[in-house]
Amino acid sequence: MKALRYFGPRDVRYESMDDPVLHDDRDVLVKVTGCAICGSDLHIYHGEGFSEDLGFCVGHEAVGEVVEIGRGVRRLKSGDKVMISAAVGCGACPACLRGDVIRCETGSAGCYGLSSKLQGSQAEAVRVPAGDFNAALIPEGITEDQALLMTDGMATAWYGARNADISSGKTAAVVGLGPIGLMAVEQAFVLGAARVFAIDPVAERRAIAETLGATALHPDDAVETIRELTRGRMVDSTVEAVGHARTIDLALNLAARRGTVSVIGVNQDRRFDFPMARAFMMGLTFRIGTCSVQETWPELIPLVQAGRLKPERVISHRLPLSDGAEAYAMFDGRKDGALKMILTP
Ligand SMILES: NC(=O)c1ccc[n+]([C@@H]2O[C@H](COP(=O)([O-])OP(=O)(O)OC[C@H]3O[C@@H](n4cnc5c(N)ncnc54)[C@H](O)[C@@H]3O)[C@@H](O)[C@H]2O)c1
Ligand SMILES: [Zn+2]
Ligand SMILES: [Zn+2]
Repeated sequence: MKALRYFGPRDVRYESMDDPVLHDDRDVLVKVTGCAICGSDLHIYHGEGFSEDLGFCVGHEAVGEVVEIGRGVRRLKSGDKVMISAAVGCGACPACLRGDVIRCETGSAGCYGLSSKLQGSQAEAVRVPAGDFNAALIPEGITEDQALLMTDGMATAWYGARNADISSGKTAAVVGLGPIGLMAVEQAFVLGAARVFAIDPVAERRAIAETLGATALHPDDAVETIRELTRGRMVDSTVEAVGHARTIDLALNLAARRGTVSVIGVNQDRRFDFPMARAFMMGLTFRIGTCSVQETWPELIPLVQAGRLKPERVISHRLPLSDGAEAYAMFDGRKDGALKMILTP
């Protein structure tokens, strides 16, 4: 099959590789009909990857059609249209049964496309372990685009917004307005935020946040402007969706007394200079982590079906998978309004 393979910093190639095959009775093979590039793929693209492997297939956001199932698969069958969760668990342990995939008790929690251990889904086909659990039928009333966004980015935004304790009447901020940050802005309003500050150096992305109702700010001005606009109260709930020490620091500086900072940006720094005394004095809550995608679906699916959330607004480009290298370069360079890049095999 053809796939996007990683060969080193800024070197993603559209090349042939072995077709995926079933490894286990519970595996499912999916013919990919749409996949997308995530900000996490950009970390790999920059050489801040998760393994030393080269040549593996990248990508962890995909929808497609089931083409083959193992003997132990009960719910899915060939021909089913599915969305594939980026978070992969065993599907059978108590944590997975709660949807809390990240805490999978078998130690098999993972994600596609980070190494050759579990090949990615920016490809013509992908093997889905424990298919009944890690893939789900695309629900009625949800488009394929919406389902694709639900496989990771939208779920992560929701996890981040929930972790930030956003609720009725609160002031929220989102640092980083990539596809995930923009979806978090939309979700913050749905969760009841009275005011949302949206912070990013890219003017085009700030403009989109404004159309969603947010007050958009450049990071250099954010602290001072928010201090003025909130009369010194600052922000109750902040979501950091960038993945840098300086943006986590900014998020902490925005926090109001007893505020919450929720970090979803992927960060591989070993240490961080945490403002301990300030956090102590202010009574801050700090949460960080990766999203158990399946856990978010029971809340997100009805909100999308009802038209309360329109994640498809972040889609900017559709390209054939064969133009994958160009799509990576565009998304990385924030060129031509590049936001969510959808690739079609
Ligand atoms: N925790 C999880 O489970 C999980 C899952 C998926 C993605 N992620 C992470 O979420 C992050 C966002 O992903 P995305 O797809 O939206 O990617 P993205 O790269 O498009 O978004 C990052 C945004 O941060 C902005 N930014 C850069 N410097 C900034 C600064 N100083 N202040 C404010 N904004 C700044 C960029 O302009 C960009 O708009 C990435 O780090 C990604 O790895 C986490
Ligand atoms: Zn991702
Ligand atoms: Zn499990």
